[in-house]
Amino acid sequence: MLLDAPSDEEEGGSGVSNIIHKPVMLQEVISMLKLRNGSTVVDATLGMGGHAAAILEKILPNGRLIGIDKDEEALNIAKDHLSYFSDSCMFVHDDFRNLDKIIGRFDLTGVDAILFDVGVSSYQLESASRGFSIKAEGPLDMRMDRKSFISAYDLLNNLTEEEISSILWRFGQERFSRRIARNIVAARQRSPISSTTQLAELVTKALPYKARFHKIHPATRTFQALRIAVNRELDALDEALKKAALILKKRGRICVITFHSLEDRIVKENFRELARTGSFQLVFKKILRPGQEELKNNPRARSAKMRAIERVK
Ligand SMILES: C[S@@+](CC[C@H](N)C(=O)[O-])C[C@H]1O[C@@H](n2cnc3c(N)ncnc32)[C@H](O)[C@@H]1O
Repeated sequence: MLLDAPSDEEEGGSGVSNIIHKPVMLQEVISMLKLRNGSTVVDATLGMGGHAAAILEKILPNGRLIGIDKDEEALNIAKDHLSYFSDSCMFVHDDFRNLDKIIGRFDLTGVDAILFDVGVSSYQLESASRGFSIKAEGPLDMRMDRKSFISAYDLLNNLTEEEISSILWRFGQERFSRRIARNIVAARQRSPISSTTQLAELVTKALPYKARFHKIHPATRTFQALRIAVNRELDALDEALKKAALILKKRGRICVITFHSLEDRIVKENFRELARTGSFQLVFKKILRPGQEELKNNPRARSAKMRAIERVK
């Protein structure tokens, strides 16, 4: 099976305010990136700046951090959160798939460490208006970058039944993808599907009765698949990892945290290819997972997997 048991992250939050994003595998990230005073680091998924704050503590006073996020709202929260470090921090609103161009804008010969903590943040999941949450009523948006053109609404209301079914299968491994797509297309003939809760209900009703009562919400895989399709997450990760390898200095490291097997497979394959060139070495062979203590305090971390690679030549 490709998908792991979805984490709370994938299930969607309940629309609470005062959202705090606990950085996942923080201690492991810090030691894996081999940070020191003066390091130049890229946090390709700045989010709310949780990892970035801890990275900055390690690389100051001489280091600098380039923080990227395609979500402008998240970037603004991170700017606020990291204002104390603002002299050493550059904030970039862009897709990490443009890593080469982003780094080209700064006067750099290379970077010492790059972090990818992919997927959605608590902030995105728990803001009902962003449309990522299954449980909170909101518009079917799911765009991480609100300036991008295609939302979940556009996909659901315009694609053919086959195209919808293919997205649900490829990006959600949803075994009832065909039934769900059929239900969606029948429903939208009456009126467009416009809200998260409307979609969640449609998906639930499309499933055989027995499949509706699992621990995870029956629409979890559908929401995950749509989010991945809207944000073209897998292509972006693949492209970015290839570019990351090219900007890494000797002895520099890339560390990636993923939350489902579709992403992890991309990381594994890219790292394997890099290791084959002889210029890179895996920092550890298998994946690293969060420890028991972290899982107790942050259930969102439970499907996290970490991989890291070092440039040796
Ligand atoms: C799990 S959160 C990162 C949380 C962060 N490490 C922290 O500690 O606060 C992932 C972030 O990556 C961003 N993101 C996802 N895909 C991206 C991409 N292709 N380019 C840039 N940012 C992306 C999302 O908008 C989100 O804010």
